[in-house]
Amino acid sequence: MKILITAGPTREYIDPVRFISNPATGTLGFMIAKKAKKKGHDVIVIAGPCEIPPLKGIKVFSVESALEMQDRVERYFPLVDVLIMTAAVSDWRPARMYKQKIKIKRNWKLNLIANPDILKTVSRRKNRNQIIVGFALESENILENARKKLKKKRLDLIVANSISNFGNTSKKTDIFFLFSDGTTKKVFCTKARLASLLLGEIEKLVSRKQH
Ligand code: CTP
Repeated sequence: MKILITAGPTREYIDPVRFISNPATGTLGFMIAKKAKKKGHDVIVIAGPCEIPPLKGIKVFSVESALEMQDRVERYFPLVDVLIMTAAVSDWRPARMYKQKIKIKRNWKLNLIANPDILKTVSRRKNRNQIIVGFALESENILENARKKLKKKRLDLIVANSISNFGNTSKKTDIFFLFSDGTTKKVFCTKARLASLLLGEIEKLVSRKQH
């Protein structure tokens, strides 16, 4: 299988030294990439800024902003069987990026505009054999919100978990797999185990599509 994985946060620059971002570490995306490679799959990673050492045999494209990530995803999606979107993409970016360091010393308002929803745009172009997996990190109503995202973004599978699972943690947490056929599976596991379970589910989805 050819698998495209996005990982980490995006950075949306306000000026050359300041940006909007989030604490995503890329841990899960890189764990999935490593395990997928070990299982013999072809893996491409598109990563926002994260401090993870390079992975042997895996092509990693580094990006910063959501627009750069979208550009890479759109370029590589037609070449793969599976897209796994673990990246914590910033929903907004500053309406303008100041070329010089901002010197304003009083209160001021930062104008934000919406970033494109990468999953939503890419899923419009998906062919019948491709699988798209998204993630939902929720602070409340996990299942309800995740189900909405699954539909809105036209995904085959969404992995839903609570915000306590953010970052590089080895804790076990409740995680839900919500499939487009309406079925749900609940697991209680670490990120490392989640990476293995998820790959197993994806392999089943792909083989079902191909037969
Ligand atoms: N995602 C994306 N493009 C964005 C925002 C999110 O492709 N601009 C993807 C994420 O990679 C993830 C999924 O959409 O796989 C859900 O991300 P999440 O941040 O939970 O949801 P949002 O759609 O941003 O909704 P909200 O922030 O309102 O919960």
